Amino acid sequence: MKDIVWVIKRKKSSVDGLIVSNTTVSRENIGNNKLAEETGGLSGPPLKARSTEMIAQMYQLTDGKIPIIGVGGVASGYDAYEKIEAGASYIQIYTSLVYEGPALVDDIKAELSALITRLGHNNVADVVGTNSKFYLPNK
Ligand SMILES: Cc1cc2nc3c(=O)[nH]c(=O)nc-3n(C[C@H](O)[C@H](O)[C@H](O)COP(=O)(O)O)c2cc1C
Repeated sequence: MKDIVWVIKRKKSSVDGLIVSNTTVSRENIGNNKLAEETGGLSGPPLKARSTEMIAQMYQLTDGKIPIIGVGGVASGYDAYEKIEAGASYIQIYTSLVYEGPALVDDIKAELSALITRLGHNNVADVVGTNSKFYLPNK
């Protein structure tokens, strides 16, 4: 991750945004499942916590200056909020959209909006990175 940041800082103007993770080859967080022996990348819930940590680390390493697109296991407004407070400015969904369908987008937006208001913020921008330090090692 530090190598990527080094490149970004050298060529800062040419990087408009970052997606810090894709699927995972890790088999943590999926319990005792026969399917775990299959090869390939996992998406959705098994990826959620790890991708949030990576967003927080990247947010800190880039001093919050490069917009991060948060992706990995987002299936609710609460999940989106977690990614945003870790450092994401935008949210991408893939697996949850496949399972829930397009109506999920409005559901996520409504839940996220309600959460932002309930927690005393005005908008998404006010939340970006507010909890990024929580996810760092030796916090
Ligand atoms: C079937 C499938 C195909 C994917 N294809 C691509 C791809 O072509 N390029 C890419 O950058 N990411 C691809 N991804 C990764 C997703 O963009 C996303 O980073 C990942 O699935 C985690 O998000 P999610 O938990 O919302 O699915 C793919 C994921 C899945 C499940």
